Amino acid sequence: MPTTPKRKILVTSALPYANGAIHLGHLVEYIQTDIWVRFQKMRGHECWYVCADDTHGTPIMLRAEKEGITPEALIARVHGEHTRDFAGFHVAFDNYHSTHSEETRFYANDIYAKLQAAGLIEVRAIEQFYDPVKAMFLPDRYIKGECPRCGAKDQYGDSCEVCGAAYAPTELKNPYSAVSGATPVRKASEHYFFKLSDPRCQDFLRRWTTGQLTPEPPLQPEAANKMQEWLGAEGENKLSDWDISRDAPYFGFEIPGAPGKFFYVWLDAPIGYFGSFRNLAARTPAIDAAAFTERGTDTELYHFIGKDILYFHALFWPAMLHHAGYRTPTRIFAHGFLTVDGQKMSKSRGTFITAESYLKQGLNPEWLRYYYAAKLNGSMEDIDLSLEDFIARVNSDLVGKYINIASRCTGFITKRFNGRLAPVDSPLLRDTRAAAATIAELYEAREYGKALREVMALADRANQFVNEHKPWELGKLEGDSLQQQVCSEAINLFRLLTLYLKPVLPRLAENVERFLNIAPLTWADADTLLAAGHVINDYRHLMTRIERRQVEALIAANRESLAPAASGGTGPSAGTVSSTHPPSRPSPSKGEGGESGALAPEITLDDFSKIDLRIARIAQAEHVEGADKLIRLTLDLGPLGTRQVFAGIKSAYDPAALTGRLTVMVANLAPRKMKFGLSEGMVLAASGEGPGLYLLEPDSGAQPGMRVK
Ligand code: 2FM
Ligand code: ZN
Repeated sequence: MPTTPKRKILVTSALPYANGAIHLGHLVEYIQTDIWVRFQKMRGHECWYVCADDTHGTPIMLRAEKEGITPEALIARVHGEHTRDFAGFHVAFDNYHSTHSEETRFYANDIYAKLQAAGLIEVRAIEQFYDPVKAMFLPDRYIKGECPRCGAKDQYGDSCEVCGAAYAPTELKNPYSAVSGATPVRKASEHYFFKLSDPRCQDFLRRWTTGQLTPEPPLQPEAANKMQEWLGAEGENKLSDWDISRDAPYFGFEIPGAPGKFFYVWLDAPIGYFGSFRNLAARTPAIDAAAFTERGTDTELYHFIGKDILYFHALFWPAMLHHAGYRTPTRIFAHGFLTVDGQKMSKSRGTFITAESYLKQGLNPEWLRYYYAAKLNGSMEDIDLSLEDFIARVNSDLVGKYINIASRCTGFITKRFNGRLAPVDSPLLRDTRAAAATIAELYEAREYGKALREVMALADRANQFVNEHKPWELGKLEGDSLQQQVCSEAINLFRLLTLYLKPVLPRLAENVERFLNIAPLTWADADTLLAAGHVINDYRHLMTRIERRQVEALIAANRESLAPAASGGTGPSAGTVSSTHPPSRPSPSKGEGGESGALAPEITLDDFSKIDLRIARIAQAEHVEGADKLIRLTLDLGPLGTRQVFAGIKSAYDPAALTGRLTVMVANLAPRKMKFGLSEGMVLAASGEGPGLYLLEPDSGAQPGMRVK
């Protein structure tokens, strides 16, 4: 096989936000990238795969506040969860870092300073909505109100989910802050802009996106077309300047020389690719980090992303890099979205499946890797995970075709020939070896589906060979060397197929390497066969079939109930109003001493101290459409942020009379999903045998957030 010169390649996948779990939608990209990286490494290239958590921004800041922890504590916990999930699917980053790192800060400051020196940063005042209670500017997604077109209530600040209208948050009627419930006010502040409207940026982007500045076009044709739409025709100045600053409070990097102003999360997110790589290079002497970030070197840089974030990667990111004097990406590979059984992933249908639950339910991660690979190509088309097809394809291709070759032939070699292989050569072996070049081209072009079809066609031929020679019948003649030869040929075919599948099935390949008693397979090994006399180890079972009940259990485990949990049984004791239940009364059951009024079993002070009771101000109280007993409360806990609680107190209170009152809530109760939304705690009320329900209220002077002990 002709050897290709050794390339130096840096590869990234998009950085997942540090406030959510990895799910099967994310995994399309990480598995796609990991396969490509493993393939490059098998080819003998220097290839580094880096990623990181995307840690900055308002949602992460508010989420941490809601959990009563610092953003640093939140991102550290999520980093652990993400690392665990990726490892579980054999996604082998060379480094998985964080954008909240000194390396990322270094590049962010450097790029910013260079853009500033180039005259591409402009400061101007803009007016935005401001939450006077939380004392913060509100991103569009945190402003809600009535749709200016159809009047639907509780619509987000950018678009209406009922009629689809898109608008500016300032157009909403009766706007309110989704953070505190307060009415936002308009307030001006200075913002920092990257001047994408500058003719230098427009000119560069027009040439870069159309491949005039690079040996090969950096974008897929459909992505390049989209960019032309966004850029407009020559002379048309369609790009607006990009607002790269946010006002405090904001979790991010403060802009040098601009106290109280922070880099917008999307500025430092792609810079995190370089940050992660710099962090890796610092502890890897073999890496020359500058060679991958400076211009004019022979290194290559590839970003795998979803098509939804093309705008940032194909316009903002190259423009930032170029005008700050850095190298630009070699190519950007965008992929489509995942659908499950032809529909968007859905929590109610159980198809919003987390990586953690897939692994916890005991499903083999390589089944999914194989299935995704079989569906993937180099385009931006969406891919569908059809659950029936998933079961059928994995069972038929991997177990029925590929594994079947080894499971039918190795026993004879180990039992009858002491594991020793016979010399082999045949047209089929030669064809299977020669396929290495085509399969390599397909992996290189991210045409994994086509590559696997080639591999399975070879597996079909290998099975046909075994069927024709029936080694189990040959064995009847004691000492028949034909049996050894047929089985040796089948094992050699199996070895070559394993090599071709290794980027997709790395763990399985490792197990095969162990049982074949060979060194880790590289692409160059397609040139060789196992030598005559080579001794293999005992065959161990390599992969089981997927059972339908396993997939059903996975869906059931991810299906979220839309109905509120039934009351009673495990409900709270008398005197509390559950966030998720209408008030429940213990049933009079004398034998167990459970009649109303009887004391609950004794607890210790330690037991009691586990309950975190806080003073809460009812910032907002609303009827819940379709709920007879519930009122939706927005509770202000002062420095601890706000909570939404559904309380079963509608029989006793009119929402209008509750707003502004102080009460007591259980603040550390695990949040529960209800039909109407997430309930994040419980308010306390007294009740007896008769009707009547009495919300607790502290003496005057108590402040939101104070602990009740
Ligand atoms: O869309 C997202 O999930 C972003 N966190 C991706 C960032 S990719 C890169 F720019 F860092
Ligand atoms: Zn509307």
